[in-house]
Amino acid sequence: MRTIPALIAGEEVTTGTTFTVVDPSTGTPFAEATRCGTAQVDDAVEAARSAFGFVRGRSAEWRAGVLRQLAALIRRDADRLADLECQDVGKPLRQARTDVAVTARYFDYYAGILQALHGDTLPQADGMVAFTRREPFGVTAHITPWNYPLQMTARTLAPALAAGNCCVLKPAEDTPVTAVEIARLALEAGFPPGMLNVVPGFGPEAGAALAGHPGIDHISFTGSRPVGTAIAQAAAANVVPVVLELGGKSPNIVFEDADLGHAVPLIVSAIIQNCGQTCSAGSRVLVHESVHGKLVAAVRERFEALRIGPGAQDPDLGPLISDRQRARVASLVEQGRREAVLVTGGDVPDDERLHGGFFYRPTLFDHVPATAAVAQEEIFGPVLSVTPFRDDTEAVALANGTEYGLVAAVWTRDIGRAHRLADEVCAGQVFVNTYGAAGGVELPFGGWKRSGYGREKGFEGLLGYTQTKTVVIGVR
Ligand code: NAI
Ligand code: MG
Repeated sequence: MRTIPALIAGEEVTTGTTFTVVDPSTGTPFAEATRCGTAQVDDAVEAARSAFGFVRGRSAEWRAGVLRQLAALIRRDADRLADLECQDVGKPLRQARTDVAVTARYFDYYAGILQALHGDTLPQADGMVAFTRREPFGVTAHITPWNYPLQMTARTLAPALAAGNCCVLKPAEDTPVTAVEIARLALEAGFPPGMLNVVPGFGPEAGAALAGHPGIDHISFTGSRPVGTAIAQAAAANVVPVVLELGGKSPNIVFEDADLGHAVPLIVSAIIQNCGQTCSAGSRVLVHESVHGKLVAAVRERFEALRIGPGAQDPDLGPLISDRQRARVASLVEQGRREAVLVTGGDVPDDERLHGGFFYRPTLFDHVPATAAVAQEEIFGPVLSVTPFRDDTEAVALANGTEYGLVAAVWTRDIGRAHRLADEVCAGQVFVNTYGAAGGVELPFGGWKRSGYGREKGFEGLLGYTQTKTVVIGVR
């Protein structure tokens, strides 16, 4: 079985202690990963600090060059990386390939825009010249989840590195494989040792050690709310900024004038993609009562036609990440049965060939009261809840009626209504007559309310990894 090392100061490091990495399509182990603890995190932070001394002295053009080279190597190894991601996460091969392409785009995109990063000159009294510089923080920490290991690695690392920081990344224990591959490719691309370090391990061990490390200058986290809160507390203790992306309960809001033929396939893929384990999953449908029955029938038909299978066979729907995640989904579905009407799904597929994998059937609930758990909780599984509404006011109230505010979509042919809803819905991204943006590397992304704070992606993502220094010079 392959052993996944840590990558610290340009060296592959093992500790003698490992944890098992499982293929969720079969439930069988396929790798052992190095279980890092405080000692490896200390080494990684020290390596990043020392690399920062070197990187500070390099030009923006140099940084752009190594990032672009990393993007090229990711594209060179695209098939290999997609196969690994598919095995580690269980996601359909086509989705894994898209993830690899988006990963390369992140490094290319930030390599491009980093050279447009500049300060301002500021008007001052005679005899004074004032300007700002956009400087890196230094050593940045990155704690990522298991749902999009490659994309998340790139989303958080590319802007941090582009801004001139040196990084320590702790991948999720369920999926440590591809982050280490990216760190290996980074060395091949010409990154100096320590510019990017990866420390696989458990959240309460390597994760907590990293979040609380006094040598860290900035933290980025994507994952669950309780862990996000703990990380923000650790960041507060060291007085360092933190970006939190904590998921959502994102609505597709369908009006009576929507083009249902266009909307339904996208509504289905918004919850089916990655088996519903997507922070921006469209996990609620709010639909005008006049088209409610038609929409539910169309979604049901598509749900029942979905092919379920191992990621490598490129089905429509792969497994969930783990037995633990499946138990979590199943328990929320049990609650849903008591609170709403189960239309289809609600159990594991009755197929011997899928035995061993962590599969769950696509599940549709109708007539879901706004207060039901399946309308309020992030389920992170292929579970969609439908709630009818009577008018625009009720639609907005339902859309904004959860603690989350990550993404929303509005389906209408009325341009005035589209603008009003984009104004009134509380979410970091609002789509109209579409859902998601194929990676959306260029589009600022992040939460309102309990979905978190700070923005990633786009130029704002780059600015977030800089701190402003104002310089004032007396010239006489
Ligand atoms: P989690 O929040 O425990 O895991 C995310 C990352 O945090 C992992 O790398 C983990 O090792 C790390 N971590 C865990 N405890 C830590 C600690 N004390 N200190 C530092 N790092 C720590 O999420 P989990 O338990 O895997 O998933 C539970 C639920 O969280 C999911 O059902 C879903 O609702 C939500 N979630 C949301 C994600 C998103 O994309 N917004 C991604 C993953 C999970
Ligand atoms: Mg795995």
